[in-house]
Amino acid sequence: MPQSKKPGPQAAKAPRESVKILITGGRIQRRIQEIAKQIRKDFPDEPLHLVSVLKGGVFFLTDLARSISGEVSFDFIAVSSYGQNTHSSGQVRLTRDLDSSVEGKTVIVVEDILDTGMTLQYLLRLFEQRKPKHLRVAVLLDKPERRIADVRADYVGFSIPNEFVVGYGLDYAERYRNLRYVGILTLGSDTKKGASEK
Ligand code: IMP
Ligand code: MG
Repeated sequence: MPQSKKPGPQAAKAPRESVKILITGGRIQRRIQEIAKQIRKDFPDEPLHLVSVLKGGVFFLTDLARSISGEVSFDFIAVSSYGQNTHSSGQVRLTRDLDSSVEGKTVIVVEDILDTGMTLQYLLRLFEQRKPKHLRVAVLLDKPERRIADVRADYVGFSIPNEFVVGYGLDYAERYRNLRYVGILTLGSDTKKGASEK
């Protein structure tokens, strides 16, 4: 006989989270079209190899790849730098390498967000050693106020204020990635604290 399920202690402790839209899905899509055109203009005759950082960069990569005309290939890499919260450890670790070599290719690193820049600095050093023909960076979001590492992106979707954002690939403890828009996450009363200490 199945027993009736009562809400466990976890349900009772769930934080009161809410998400306020910062950039609508429509604006994201329009901006991606512009970036795709710009990239093709900068490299009119080259096959382009997009390399995205799992998992946050997947939607940006798939939308961007389909918007760039001509020959495009892509690959994925995974690094870990954040735990299960909004705080950064500042440590970057490779957890999944690329499938194919980037040597001699025109490589565009496709990242969800440029925050402290530690992740991008790590990736650029790694890829430079592998001798691509060109190495460029496209980020959907940039939080310039938070920069620690001396890195910049060649293509930026939107510059945003120092807030913790979710959606369009970006997560909070693996949730919210599937939103079509980017929104500011509010965690009950202490969101700002989480975002600024990160
Ligand atoms: P960085 O190494 O500090 O530049 O951080 C890069 C990574 O941190 C991104 O690829 C995201 O996975 C994560 N991150 C930074 N800021 C946010 C945010 O506001 N929301 C969700 N993830 C973030
Ligand atoms: Mg992430």
